[in-house]
Amino acid sequence: MKTILPAHTSSLSRLNRMLSGKAFDNARFFILVDENTYNHCLPRLISKVDRMQQAEFMEVPVGEECKDIAIATQLWQTLLESNADRNSVLVNLGGGCICDLGGFVAAGYKRGIRHINIPTTLVGMVDAAIGGKTALNLDNSKNQIGFFHQPAIVCVEPAFLDTLPDAMLLDGVFEMLKTFMVGDPGRYESLCGMILDGTFEVLPDMIAACADIKTAIVRRDPYDHSTRRILNLGHTFGHAIEAFSHQSGRKPLTHGNAVGIGMLCAMQLSVRLTGLPQAVLDRYRTVATKLTTLPHYTLRDTEELLSLMRQDKKNRSGNILCVLLHQVGTPVIDLPVDENLIRQTLLSLC
Ligand code: GLY
Repeated sequence: MKTILPAHTSSLSRLNRMLSGKAFDNARFFILVDENTYNHCLPRLISKVDRMQQAEFMEVPVGEECKDIAIATQLWQTLLESNADRNSVLVNLGGGCICDLGGFVAAGYKRGIRHINIPTTLVGMVDAAIGGKTALNLDNSKNQIGFFHQPAIVCVEPAFLDTLPDAMLLDGVFEMLKTFMVGDPGRYESLCGMILDGTFEVLPDMIAACADIKTAIVRRDPYDHSTRRILNLGHTFGHAIEAFSHQSGRKPLTHGNAVGIGMLCAMQLSVRLTGLPQAVLDRYRTVATKLTTLPHYTLRDTEELLSLMRQDKKNRSGNILCVLLHQVGTPVIDLPVDENLIRQTLLSLC
């Protein structure tokens, strides 16, 4: 996996050079887009990367709706009808959902073709596009089906963020906080400071630092057997909170917001179970409430949330396992947490 990070020359021009190399001789390119990236990002990609001018494109619905086996099957059929061979390359141009789906399709087609992730959202740039996790949803449960299939290239081009509405940009800030929380306490502190004093902007060097931390963690443990699990901080709660918010009559929460709230849950538990200082929790709560609104849950809601959490892929032997923190920068993985404690945590969120 080659990660093209923001630097002095544009990432897309470096991708352009890379694709004219021998490794991509005679390759046919297929670009996966949704309606947003078709309108706002595809023209820029085609104008900057020569090999994209002859590419065919395939469009899927925007958001989580596309992470569906029926849509993956349609894409396989399109590839087959277009005579895509094993030297073909799928270029995923979009946010986390496009990268998850496109990676899955690439992993399954003719037992695996290469794919290139070009994330266009902040969540994609700092997390979802990197590391080779591919995923589809099953029923209302997130990311239950998938393969590990490393992208040949991840091209992080911050210029694509200009096309995003502010709310979607902010969504990625929680994943940045998470990565720095587990991997770079200094940057975590300064990011919190900037959010609190209102001077925060998404700077390319911060995106590069975040993507770099994630790449290094994935290199140490590509198949998520041990250290990579630190990146799941907040996700056991977060995935359940996200799925629950999509159930009837609720305001759907985006992935980043749900993970941000999940991190607050994990930090509350960390104060009780792993000695995280209360002051660290209090500071994070202030940061989180600047970025999102905390949900109010009833006892009945907590039962549904718990049943979603029981489906988490990290669980073992019927225990819900969480990633907690001793300190910022010192995560603890695979901690079994009592369900009553989880209920209390969810009830005391706001
Ligand atoms: N998003 C967590 C991981 O890639 O491991």
